[in-house]
Amino acid sequence: MGEAMSDEGERVNSLMSLLKRRGIIFPAFSIHGGVAGLFDYGPVGGRLLRKVQNQWREHWLSKGNIVEIDSPTITPHSVLEASGHVGAFNDHASECGSCNAIFRSDHLVEDYHSNPDSLEGPELDSIITSKEVSCPTCSGMEWLPSRPMNLMFSTIIGATGGGRQAYMRPETAQGMFLTYPMIQRHFRNRLPFGAIQVGKGYRNEISPRQGMIRQREFNMAELEYFIDPEQPPVHNLSKWDDTKFLLIPDPAGKTSESIQVTIADALEANIVRHPTVALFMAETYDFLIGIGADSSKIRFRQHESDEMAHYATDCWDLEMLGSYGWIECVGIAHRGCYDLGAHEDATKSNELRAWREFPEPVEVDKMVVAPIGSVVGPTFREHAGLVSDALLNMKNLPSNFPFELDLNDGSNVTIEEHMVEIKQVQETIRGEWFLPHVVEPAFGLDRIIWHILDHGYEMTEKQGEEYLILHLAESVAPYEVVVLPLFEKDGMNELAEQIRSKILTLRGINAYYDGSKSIGRRYARADEIGVPWAVTIDHTTTEDGTVTVRRRDDQTQIRISQEDLITHLNENSLHSLF
Ligand code: ATP
Ligand code: GLY
Repeated sequence: MGEAMSDEGERVNSLMSLLKRRGIIFPAFSIHGGVAGLFDYGPVGGRLLRKVQNQWREHWLSKGNIVEIDSPTITPHSVLEASGHVGAFNDHASECGSCNAIFRSDHLVEDYHSNPDSLEGPELDSIITSKEVSCPTCSGMEWLPSRPMNLMFSTIIGATGGGRQAYMRPETAQGMFLTYPMIQRHFRNRLPFGAIQVGKGYRNEISPRQGMIRQREFNMAELEYFIDPEQPPVHNLSKWDDTKFLLIPDPAGKTSESIQVTIADALEANIVRHPTVALFMAETYDFLIGIGADSSKIRFRQHESDEMAHYATDCWDLEMLGSYGWIECVGIAHRGCYDLGAHEDATKSNELRAWREFPEPVEVDKMVVAPIGSVVGPTFREHAGLVSDALLNMKNLPSNFPFELDLNDGSNVTIEEHMVEIKQVQETIRGEWFLPHVVEPAFGLDRIIWHILDHGYEMTEKQGEEYLILHLAESVAPYEVVVLPLFEKDGMNELAEQIRSKILTLRGINAYYDGSKSIGRRYARADEIGVPWAVTIDHTTTEDGTVTVRRRDDQTQIRISQEDLITHLNENSLHSLF
C-alpha cells in the first residue's frame, strides 16, 4: 500500500470517527457486537438523509409527469421469480480452505481482470489459481471452488410450514412495474410518464467492505420512466450545452479512456444510445451538483454488454470519486420491456400494456367464427349473447368440432359445427396494445451521502489542534442555523431562544440552540456537523438588537440587525452580505 493510500485510509478513519461521534452515521447494533453492512443514521444523520431524500423527490416530482408511490418491501417469490432475481441475482463466493473466510470471487481477482463482474465460476477459479490469489484474512492459498450465491434475504409470509416463500426486495423497481396499471390510469394513458419510490433495498452481500459503500440494507431511490419505443420522447438538452460530461464509453471502458463531451453531442454520436438515457444522465448530474457533490469527481461509465444486469439494454453507471476511488452511485439503465413483459408472461395479465393509436385506422380482413343466430338463440337462450361474444372473440379458429367454449361468466358450452359459420369479415383497427419500454435511474443514497460527506470533509488545524469541518451544501445540511448565546445569562439565552423561534417560522429552515461550553467549542461542534450559519447573541444584542453571523466555510463574521438576518435567511441570500 502506497503513501497516498494510507493518507486516504487515515482520512476515511477520521471521517468515520467524526460521523460516529456526532451522531451522523455509525455501525448498527454495536453493543451486541455489530453486524457488517448494517448502519444507523443518528439524530443528526437522520436529518441529512431526510433532506437528501426530499431533494431527490422534488427533483423528479417537479417535472410534472412523475408521481411517487410506496410499495411493500416484503415481496412474494412469484414476483421475483418473474423479474429474474430468483434465478439471476447472484454473486460468486469463494471460501478459503484454511480459515473458511468467504469473499466475493470477482473482488479477489479485480487486479487481474478489467471486468470481473462478467466472469463465471470456472473463469474466476482459474484466475484465482493462476494468479495465486491469497486469502485477505489468513494469506492462505487453498480455495474451494467458487459458488453462486443469491443475494436476496429470504423470508416466509405466514406460518412457517404453511407459509408462502418471499424475499426482502433487492430493488424498489418491481413496485413500480406492478403498480403500472394504476400509474397509467392516473396519467390517462398518455406516455411518457414515470413513478419514483424512495425506500430500503436489501442485499445479503457476501463480504460487505468499504463502510457505507456496500451495505446489506440500504436506502434506494429509483425512477421508472415509461415510454413508447416507437415514439421515443424528444428532449431538449440545450440546458446542458455548456456542461462537458466525463464519459467512459464502451468499449473504451476496457482501457479506462475517457472523453469530455456535452450530453447532446454524446447522443448525436450515438455514444449514449437513447434520448431519455441522455436526459436522465444530465438530470442525475444536476441533482448531485444541487446537493453539493464536486463536479470534477463525477463521471459516467458505460457498461460493457457482458456486464449489464439481466434486464438492461444500455446502462451507464454514474461514478463518484472519493476516498475509495471511483464508486458506482447511480445506475441509469434502459430496461426495454423486460420487466413488464416478464410479469405479463408469468401472470397472463393484460393490464401491463399501453394503447397506441394508429395515425389512420387500418382495415384488415379477418376470419371469424360467426354464430348462426337462428341456432345459437334457441339453443342457448339467455346465454346466447355471451356465447356469441365468446365466439367472435376467439383468438384462433377451431381445429375440429365439437369444441368447448369458455364464456366470460366462468361457465363453458359445447359448440357444434351447425351452430357457426367461418367467414371473412373486414375489421377496422384503430391502434394496438404494446409493452412500454422503461428507462430507470437507480440511486444508492447512502453511497451518494458518503461522497458528499467525503467531498465536503476538511481536516485542518486551529491553534495547533486538529480542526474538522463538513462543508455541506445548505440544501442538505442537517441544520441551516445554530443560535448561540455568548453566555447563558443577562437575558442572552432568552433572546437566543426568541431568535431561534423566529427562524423556525421560515419555510425550510431549521435552527437549534446550543448553550453548552465555550463559544469556540460550540462553533467547532457546528462546523463538524456542517451547519452553514452560526448566529451569536452577545451583550450588544441585548442593547441594539444586532447579532453576529458567522459563515462556516471561511469563519468570517458580520454584524447585522435581526430583521436583516430574517429577511436574508428567508431569501437564501446571507452569502451576499459577506
Ligand atoms: P455493485 O456493482 O456496486 O454491487 P450494483 O451494480 O449491483 O452495484 P445496482 O443494482 O445498479 O448496483 O443498484 C443501484 C444502486 O444502488 C447502485 O448504483 C448503488 O448506488 C446502490 N447499491 C447497490 N448495492 C448496494 C449496497 N450493497 N450498499 C449500498 N448501496 C448499494
Ligand atoms: N433497480 C436497479 C437495480 O437495483 O439494479
